[in-house]
Order: sequence, then C-alpha cells, then structure tokens
Amino acid sequence: MHDALQKEIATYEKWTPKSAAAHKRALQRIPLGVASNYRHYEPYPIFVKDGKAGRIHDVDGNEYVDHNLCFGALMAGHCHPAVVKAVEQKLHEGTTFGMPHEQEWELAEEICARYPIDMVRFGSSGTEVTMHAVRIARAATGRDKILKFEGSYHGLHDAALVSVKPKAEDWGDADAPNSVPGGGGIPKASLANVVVASFNNLASVDRRFRENPVQIAAIILEPILMNVGLCMPQPGFLQGLRDICTKNGTLLIFDEVKTGAKLGWGGASEFFGVKPDMICLAKSIGGGLPLGAFGASRAVMDLISQHKVFHGGTYNTNRVAMAAGLATFREVLTRESYAHVGTLSKKLTEGYRAIVKKSGLRAYVASAGVNGALMLYPEEIRNYRDWTKIDVDLWRHYWFGMVNRGVLAQPYWWDEQWTISVQHTEADIDKHLAVFEEVAPALSKAQRERGLAFVGAAGH
Ligand SMILES: Cc1ncc(COP(=O)(O)O)c(C=O)c1O
Repeated sequence: MHDALQKEIATYEKWTPKSAAAHKRALQRIPLGVASNYRHYEPYPIFVKDGKAGRIHDVDGNEYVDHNLCFGALMAGHCHPAVVKAVEQKLHEGTTFGMPHEQEWELAEEICARYPIDMVRFGSSGTEVTMHAVRIARAATGRDKILKFEGSYHGLHDAALVSVKPKAEDWGDADAPNSVPGGGGIPKASLANVVVASFNNLASVDRRFRENPVQIAAIILEPILMNVGLCMPQPGFLQGLRDICTKNGTLLIFDEVKTGAKLGWGGASEFFGVKPDMICLAKSIGGGLPLGAFGASRAVMDLISQHKVFHGGTYNTNRVAMAAGLATFREVLTRESYAHVGTLSKKLTEGYRAIVKKSGLRAYVASAGVNGALMLYPEEIRNYRDWTKIDVDLWRHYWFGMVNRGVLAQPYWWDEQWTISVQHTEADIDKHLAVFEEVAPALSKAQRERGLAFVGAAGH
C-alpha cells in the first residue's frame, strides 16, 4: 500500500470511530458485520445515520454528498417529498394484503407506456425479477441454457451467480469463457446451463450458439455493463445480439435493473434503439422502496396466464412499495427531471474530465444518463477482462480521499459508478468537483510513482 493511501485510511479511521465500533459489534452476530457482502470493505464500512435529498450523515456526524445512493437505487434521492407522502398515506391505510388492488394496473400502465413490453409482473428485487425472466424464457423456448456475459451481474440466484468476477486462473479462453461459479453452493447442473460469452465480442456469442445449437433459451445482459465500472456497448453490439436472438429463436433479456430508470425516460431500449423480448427493472423505479418488475410481450407473459409458468410472492405489490413506485414514475422520473439531472451529469462529467486532464492522471471519465465513473485506465475498457487491469490501491486512494473530504463519489468497489439524483443540486456537484480537484494531483503523483508496478488483479 502506498504512503498516500495509508494516510487517507488513517484519516478515515480518525473521523469514523463510531463506525469502527458499530462494525466490531455487528461482527459478533452478522457475517462480515453487514447484510450484503457488497457493503463490506477494509478497514470497515461507514455506518449511516440518516439521509435527506443528496446528502447523508454517518453515525459520527460526518456529512457526505451521496453519489452512492444505495448502489444506484435512489435516483429519487433520499426522502423525496412525493415518495414520502405516498408512502406515509399507505402506512395508515394498510401496508400489505396479499390481495389485488388498483395501483397494480396503474403502475403496469406506467411501465408499459415507457418500455417496449405489453404485460408486467412485480417483485421486490432485481434478483427476483431476473430469476423469473430466465425461467419464463426457458419455458417459452423449451430450452434450458442461458447465455450471459463475463462480468455481468444479474443478482444472486443460481443461474445469475456465474462468471460475475471470475479470477484469471479460472476464466479460460476469451472467446469461450469458462462458467465459473460466484461462490459455493451453486450446483454443477446449474453451471452447465449457463454459457458465458465476452461483452462486445459478437464472435464469442456466435461461437456459443454454434456449440449449443437450439439449446439457448435467452441471452441476458446489462445493456451497459455497470458492474465493471461503466462499460458501454460498442456500436452494433446490441443490434448484433438482437439479430442472433431472432435468428435462433432465443429471447433477448435486457436486465435494466440499473439502466431502466437512470439512463433516460425509456431506458436502454429507447436509448439504443434496440428492442429486447423481456425487460427486468428494479432499483431506482422504487424511489428507495423494494420494487422490481419484469415484462414481455403478451404472448410470452401469457405463459403465466395459462398456468404454464408459476409466479408468486407474498410481498409482491405491497401497497407501500407500489405507492412509492407510482410516485416515482409520475413525479420523479419525469421528462423535466431527466433534463435537470442531465445538466448536472454533464457538469460533473465535464468537470471531472477537465481535472483529469489538468492533473495528468492516466484515466478517463465514463458517463451514461445519471451514472458515471472515474475509470483508472489509459484507454476505454470493452469488457470484464479489461476492467480487471485496474490499480486497485490507486482506486482506493481516490475513494478514501473523496470520502475524507465529504464526498461519497460512488459506492465502495471499483466495479461501481456514481448516481446523480433528482434532488442533487448545483452546489452538490460543485462540492464534488472541488474535492476531486483537491484529490486528483495526489492521485496523479501516486500513479506516476507506482508506474505499472501494481498487481492488476481486481475482484471482490
Ligand atoms: C444489473 C443488475 N441486475 C440485478 C441486480 C440485483 O438486484 P438486487 O440487488 O435488487 O437483487 C443488480 C444489483 O446490483 C444489478 O446491478
């Protein structure tokens, strides 16, 4: 670890003693002291106290401009007034009944108006909706295999937790990556049904189809890889996948858990002009409450109507999450809001680019909708394997440097990206940029001193 990073971590420890104590206590009862592995990092994570609009406070009383926003689930920002009002009302009227209600149709209408699907069902998380989408695709085609991309994340079910962050010694040929389980407990039979290809590499996809003729039910992908920082699809890649799917009778599933709300009004299909067969939504559509949705054409979703595919869930369409979702679609994810966050996003991105240039940092700034990231690479990454070549300690230097000065530039982990909320202000962006301007020269210096001597092995 280089000196400047060591100093930043010492500062972090100085300002966050209550987080350290809370983590130590939590470790007694909760594995890693956190409720999701993504929330754990060394030396210990910040324990949060509260949040409002674009800022949060930790248990030590420090304030941060928050561009973590619950791993991108809060384009609404904290406590959006419309969401609070809608939720508060439902708290007094009954939160959950396990019975149909009229808000279901209302939200289904909102969703089908925006995304190219005819029918929708709801759930409570991204994991849940990608799991159901995969099952429906299997039933629709009578095939068991799915194709996913190395480095793409679709949640925690068996079919999804494959080749998410494979190690170099396991990943195999770039054109035919191995299916690597993302931890113990994933049956070999599940692995055998997940074939893996490389993002932005249509040849690798073609090859998989040749090797598995008439066996692949679906291609599932994040239209923009947002679990390796921010990696754009190269021109023609998404259309190429569309063509391969059409030719092979395979369903194209856009996992829009991240892009659906945050890329723009109509998500990735509108943005890129490519129509998938199924769409999965979660995170920012719920305004901070747990809400997911998956949808497709009437013909595909009729598999549920005809009792050929089973879908259920006790908490599906609970009144609180649905009220939050409706308020979010109607009052947060509006055309005017996209214009507002678009201006902030441009300001932040261009500001970062100017600072990167001035500081001499070898990096670029990726941006899409309200998401963006400082990418510590000399040139644009195209896939997961490119992403692993990051200098992790330099990234940690960036993240702790920003946090110590009051800016959560993005969630911890160099596979994430910042989110801008509709409640962020010009002043928040100014603060973010001022802090980056302060941190960047030290990063640039450390980068020069470290040269390429770092071990480029990223992974959780
Ligand atoms: C693209 C994508 N799909 C699915 C998921 C899983 O969503 P959840 O954490 O709500 O289960 C995530 C979570 O980060 C995601 O980024």
